[in-house]
Amino acid sequence: MTATAEGKSAVGTARVRLEGLDKVTGAAKYAGEVDFDGLAYGHLVLSTVARGRVRAVHADPVLALPGVVGVWHHGNAPRVNTDFSGMLGPVDPLLGLFQNDRVPHAGWPVALVVAETSEQAREAADALAVDYDPEPHDVVFGADRPEAYTPPGQEDRSKGDIEAGLAASAVVVDREYSTPEEYHNSMEPHAATARWEGGRLEVVDSNQGTPMVAGDLAQLFSLDPESVRVRAEHVGGAFGNKGTRPHLVAAVMAATALQRPVRVTLTRRQMFSLVGYRPPTAQRVRLGADPDGRLRALDHEACSQTSTTIEYTELSATPARTLYDADAHRTAHRLLRLDVPSPTFMRAPGEAPGSFALESALDELAEKCGVDPIELRLRNEPEVGPLSGLPFSSRNLRACLEEGARRFGWADRDPRPGVRREGRWLLGTGMAAATFPSGAVPSTASATAEADGSFTVGVNASDVGTGARTAMALVAADALDTDPDNVKIRIADSDLGPAMIAGGSMGTRSWAWAVAEAARELRERLVPGAEVPPEGITARTDTGAAIGALAQKERYSFAAQFAEVAVDPASGEVRVRRMLGAFAAGRIVNPLTARSQLLGGMVWGLSMALHEEAARDRASGAVVGGDLAGYHVAANADVPDMEAFWVDDPDPDDPVGIKGIGEIGIVGAAAAIGNAVWHATGVRHRHLPIRPDRVL
Ligand code: MOS
Repeated sequence: MTATAEGKSAVGTARVRLEGLDKVTGAAKYAGEVDFDGLAYGHLVLSTVARGRVRAVHADPVLALPGVVGVWHHGNAPRVNTDFSGMLGPVDPLLGLFQNDRVPHAGWPVALVVAETSEQAREAADALAVDYDPEPHDVVFGADRPEAYTPPGQEDRSKGDIEAGLAASAVVVDREYSTPEEYHNSMEPHAATARWEGGRLEVVDSNQGTPMVAGDLAQLFSLDPESVRVRAEHVGGAFGNKGTRPHLVAAVMAATALQRPVRVTLTRRQMFSLVGYRPPTAQRVRLGADPDGRLRALDHEACSQTSTTIEYTELSATPARTLYDADAHRTAHRLLRLDVPSPTFMRAPGEAPGSFALESALDELAEKCGVDPIELRLRNEPEVGPLSGLPFSSRNLRACLEEGARRFGWADRDPRPGVRREGRWLLGTGMAAATFPSGAVPSTASATAEADGSFTVGVNASDVGTGARTAMALVAADALDTDPDNVKIRIADSDLGPAMIAGGSMGTRSWAWAVAEAARELRERLVPGAEVPPEGITARTDTGAAIGALAQKERYSFAAQFAEVAVDPASGEVRVRRMLGAFAAGRIVNPLTARSQLLGGMVWGLSMALHEEAARDRASGAVVGGDLAGYHVAANADVPDMEAFWVDDPDPDDPVGIKGIGEIGIVGAAAAIGNAVWHATGVRHRHLPIRPDRVL
């Protein structure tokens, strides 16, 4: 860390978003808004059966409709290669649009209609008749199904004898928990605008990482990687599902065939089958403890669903591997393959639903032992990684619990449930502990000293609304020993080179590391007093070697979540009155945007606790009410008073001290609310969401 001339560091100072004005004035262009000359519009047609084959696509009547310039389907589509692995593993055959007549789930893309206007495209797509040979489908999820299997690479992790540990325990909790299908629902739907320009494919897309998407496109269409350029200058939210998605393949397919620019945007409803979701989970947690709450046995088994086209596992049992130790310790994952769309990463995948089960069970254990829930967690703080035996890079959960309790006003809490009333409301408070991995992925960056004394930094970050540009300006300012206003930041363009995606809570840390390295190299090359040539002086770096040399440690962020709720037992209404999050999550780069991001995560936790649930219809195999009217997400009025703060916790092995805050905000938040509902009413809720009909 270096300091500016005034001896102050830019990292740690609150800064408004560099692109904020552009966004609120409409000057910022999103992927569905960029203007290319001669633009045509594509609309996807999705299958109405949940399994079977496409028998016929009746394109001719639609081709005769006003403005229609093309219809693609399995009978005439160009070849697309899906036999490769991308940054996140094997690609979903879903991306191989129209490569055969198979329909593996409801809402599978069966055709693309392209027209002169978006209205014409949509009308023609709606008019396209498709005949199917349907087959019986199976979309019923449940952990009790015998077909559930252990996914390869996700074998059980255990030590000690669970059954013996439980038998020797004075207090045992053995409970089942479940969470439903949940959907990302970023405010901006997926959109891509593609064109061929000067022999290169240029795509403006809404995604979490242009290097990943550009690499996938080159593979999918068998193109020279150098000939593909993907930009994602502004992204209106992501939450894990803005990778390479079918709309992008459709836009490139049509733009290539027509040799004119094509835009494909998804409707809100289409996002309920084409871009992934959090799979439902069915979890069992067994805890065995001594009367004082010290754990002897911890067993967490989590089952989730995947599609027939990819194997995605929601790793819900993982937080137990970090948070608590016990002589007998087992974490296990099971998977069920169904005729459903492919699930994907969503807002703390694994940790979010897993912490609901684990931290609810801990609360049940605290109740049974008669030990305060915070004290219970303090008594079970491990010295080293419970299963790995590795040291923690830093672990400040204790500080989160203690300082959080102080700020929340936990000390005078009456532990008895169902005894506080305020008019028609029953009141309660609850808490939960949380953890999320901290990591860095090799990335590249460049730093240029310009002739006018300013600097330009290029790093292929993606700003999904979190303020990545602004964070990089602060990091670069410190590393270059200049003011943030003197640094121009370029992001979200695959021509900038490889870098981590905005995902896994690893974006900021990975990019900042590369920026800090590039800046350091540049400063070494600058000769004091020497003139900078017109083209500037540029240093480029790749953090691969430095990150590869990191010592093996348990690297995690930690948090404590607190909630106060009011429950109306007559209507079943649950109101969250207060939320407080205490975080130990590395050095905070921009306190203004970091607070917003943490609060955002906590709101998603509330949303998960009380609102979010997609209902899959057994008959059609599709989600019912797949839109923002049928699928409820928390709104502003749902939580009147919320606060997030952090304790000092710089990562000792990161050049800037960053750990990452992208996802930990949601972890534990749903459990804290569920535990508060128990405290208010005396009734445990083990199935999310805690709907009014379940409260009654
Ligand atoms: Mo996120 S679920 O790390 O993209």
